[in-house]
Amino acid sequence: MDLKREIDINKVPTHVAIIMDGNGRWAKQRGKDRIYGHKEGANSVKAVIKAALEINIKYLTLYAFSIENWQRPKQEVDALFNLLIQAIEQESSFLVENNIRFMHIGIKQGLSMDILDALKRVEQMTNKNDKLNLIIALNYGSRIEIIEAVKKIALDIKNGELILDDINENIFSEYLFTKNIPDPDLLIRTSGEIRISNFLLWQLSYTELYFTPTLWPDFRERDFYEAIIEYQRRERRFGKISEQL
Ligand code: FPP
Repeated sequence: MDLKREIDINKVPTHVAIIMDGNGRWAKQRGKDRIYGHKEGANSVKAVIKAALEINIKYLTLYAFSIENWQRPKQEVDALFNLLIQAIEQESSFLVENNIRFMHIGIKQGLSMDILDALKRVEQMTNKNDKLNLIIALNYGSRIEIIEAVKKIALDIKNGELILDDINENIFSEYLFTKNIPDPDLLIRTSGEIRISNFLLWQLSYTELYFTPTLWPDFRERDFYEAIIEYQRRERRFGKISEQL
């Protein structure tokens, strides 16, 4: 059965965020090294982007590398960054052809010139595109994002560019890396882990959470559509009661 037909196209989430977990375990199950899992994970990334395009998702945020991931063995980190640079470079024409805008969120400090150049180039190349916004969280941590926002706010107050009493939720959001990006409607985490791992802590306040045991390299179009269907079964009350909706 075509799962896509079960989706109500008028009620798809505007923004889907994904914690792509389980590449290492997927590889281990096959007696391969971890980077083999990351490579297959990159194929899932492409499959999910295509699926998101099909159903008119406007924002897709993928957690590719957290600040905490630097603690992994250097060999894995290096291989992961090589894979990321290669994927970004190789897929830039796919992004252009499909009217996808590419954006990076995270800390620039600590990233090599190679990756910074690749990110900047593809961001510039696609900055007029508007079918799908593809946001890659790379060298990202939510607590540091919040601290950076607080520092910028303090500085703006000190310089007379912001008034203390004007600070509200909307103003605060503008100081985050995700400025101008709506909060996620749906968060998907693969591999059976049930935690947020320092990802979009502020932005996930009212997000529907979806956890699946499927490992990321096995997560493809069908799994993505299943998550969307489950999302459409949920009632989002935002603090209200059912009868008020
Ligand atoms: C988590 O699995 C995955 C990552 C830390 C990396 C995600 C990167 C990719 C899927 C590569 C391609 C990405 C793009 C955006 C082109 P894990 O290594 O933590 O798995 P484990 O928990 O089983 O060890």
